[in-house]
Amino acid sequence: MAVPLFDTKTPVAPLRAEIDARIAAVLDGGAFILGPEVDAFERELADYLGARHVVSVANGTDAITIALQALGVGPGDEVVVPSFTFYASAEAIPPTGAAPVFCDVDRDTMNVTAETVKAALTPRTKAVVAVDLFGNPADVAAIEALGVPVVEDAAQAAGSLLRDRRTAALGTVGTLSFFPSKNLGCFGDGGAVVTDDDAIAEEARVLRFHGSRDKVSFERIGWNSRLDELQAAILRVLLPQLDGWAAGRRAAWSNYEAAGLWELVTPQTATSGAIPCWGLQVVRTPHAALLAQALPAAGIGARSYYSTPLHRQRALTPWAGDVIPLPATDALAQTHLAIPMNPLLSRADADEVTAAVQAALDGADASGAAGADAANAV
Ligand SMILES: Cc1ncc(COP(=O)(O)O)c(C=O)c1O
Repeated sequence: MAVPLFDTKTPVAPLRAEIDARIAAVLDGGAFILGPEVDAFERELADYLGARHVVSVANGTDAITIALQALGVGPGDEVVVPSFTFYASAEAIPPTGAAPVFCDVDRDTMNVTAETVKAALTPRTKAVVAVDLFGNPADVAAIEALGVPVVEDAAQAAGSLLRDRRTAALGTVGTLSFFPSKNLGCFGDGGAVVTDDDAIAEEARVLRFHGSRDKVSFERIGWNSRLDELQAAILRVLLPQLDGWAAGRRAAWSNYEAAGLWELVTPQTATSGAIPCWGLQVVRTPHAALLAQALPAAGIGARSYYSTPLHRQRALTPWAGDVIPLPATDALAQTHLAIPMNPLLSRADADEVTAAVQAALDGADASGAAGADAANAV
């Protein structure tokens, strides 16, 4: 592929010798679960985020479930979650016993807002999962001002800032994923719960280890959900690179702008006051379906990830009975498209993507397909 959708190899290549040495040190040390590397990584990540506590877990999905349970969410409760997000944001809710309630997003920022959340609140709402979609921070403070605690799902947004605060640390509790293609990705699965609240952190520590504090007495049904020492050792090498990679991702956005791409398709709007670390470059266009076919054929990575929003996913139908109208979600489902993004995406790459978009639109114009495509888009 000439310009792939994302690149998990090239940015870490210069770090190979240091990573190899850290892996060897873990093997020599013989501690593989909840050892010194996990302790050190949790401290270093908490310092980076400006948060009191980081509790690492096995993945970003578990992080949401554990964060919700640590907040006290359980059977009979409702948790508001956007329908336009990755499936895991909602999938993580039923294991707590609570019901997901779907809300809309803002069409331009693609994020939940206080207004879209408010429309889905009921007397049973116990929490909101607010997703920092594609790296764009959600306005968590505005949502918490409604009087409901937020689990900030920052899986796609490590390295972003909103009004001088780091994503994952914007509200009562935040979660991260270290899946390889994320902004801070390890070489396998990993995740974290982030909070300033001592009691929530303590609950999360108990929940990640079978509901036990001491490994011999078990207070509750918990989870076996831990970050491996090996992944923690690798993440300790990668974390100091995150801000540089974030700058690279913002430079990639500017390269697209300079290449003229924003005259052809509409980029996601950054939340007011945000400095996003773009996890994915997602654009809006009435020609999303056409480009999702034409760009890969031209060697350019492109994909519409959420063309079936969560309230229309089969597994979530038990909670989709009386969903409120979600007009922006339904429109975005048909008009969004992810195009290549990585910290090293150059002006030449941006030019190539832009030329391929232009060629696809010109070709479709000539055949009349673009008009039909646009007419079919909501
Ligand atoms: C928005 C969002 N939430 C949650 C997750 C779940 O993270 P993980 O794959 O580490 O379980 C992901 C990533 O895949 C995600 O994109």
